[in-house]
Amino acid sequence: MPNNIIDGKRIAQMIKDEVREETRMLRETHGVVPGLAFLLVGDDPASRTYVASKERACDYCGIHSVTLRLPAETHEAEVHDKISAWNNDPEIHGILVQLPLPEHIDTDRIIEAISPVKDVDGFHPVNVGKLMIGQQGMLPCTPAGIQQMLIRSGIATEGKHVVVIGRSNIVGKPIANILLQKAAGANAVVTVAHSAAADISVFTRQADILIVATGRVNTVTADMVREGVVVIDVGINRIADNTRERGYRIVGDVDFDAVAEKASLITPVPGGVGVMTIAMLMKNTLTAARHAVMPG
Ligand code: GUN
Repeated sequence: MPNNIIDGKRIAQMIKDEVREETRMLRETHGVVPGLAFLLVGDDPASRTYVASKERACDYCGIHSVTLRLPAETHEAEVHDKISAWNNDPEIHGILVQLPLPEHIDTDRIIEAISPVKDVDGFHPVNVGKLMIGQQGMLPCTPAGIQQMLIRSGIATEGKHVVVIGRSNIVGKPIANILLQKAAGANAVVTVAHSAAADISVFTRQADILIVATGRVNTVTADMVREGVVVIDVGINRIADNTRERGYRIVGDVDFDAVAEKASLITPVPGGVGVMTIAMLMKNTLTAARHAVMPG
């Protein structure tokens, strides 16, 4: 591994240790154990792996978790009933519906059914709107994790040119909005480029900080970046690899080895942004539990 790596594992561990300590204090001072409910519909293998990792993180952080696994053919009404029950359950402070949902279920309607104060994914339109206008709300975990990585690695964003590649609701749009805010750990000049651009290298070459979230292997190659750029690779892609027992390995959206030679700092995959996402989910759940105890 090169020596210009941003170690997501180390930073995520630090955050989980902070959450664990604050959870212990909340339990001792208020008798409250943060509670997080997971809903998994169908048997997508990647989703099952993600939920298992999130459950383990809950155990570590002293967060009570419950997981409801429903078959792929579950009616949307049943999902709504469960969310409604959790919305009204004082022991559940956070609700996470693992995406993607089966096609016959309307994902937008499900997300909108979750109480915004329990929306630890930060996907509810109320939380999306609050982010847009700079009000305190629940931030989505992956972009919140990226911001924490930058802050905790001492990478200043103020006045810097951040270029985001990708415009998803989960990563591209929210990270652009977070880093655009006139606030500490933000205040960047942000450009968002995406698949409709004729040539994204026009944008990537201008970046002081380049955030890549396209879900496409080798979206960014070494010829597309400036010397000294900071690179945040959000991609989690499986590619065939016969040398591995499981037959595949995980790579990001960036041609890591070649880009690492030009970058001042770069996140690896795995061990970069992915692990931060789970740590921020723990932090959001703690925040939701705290607000339930101490509103305002
Ligand atoms: N599927 C992939 N990423 C996410 C995420 O951050 N939250 C949820 N709920 N589902 C996902």
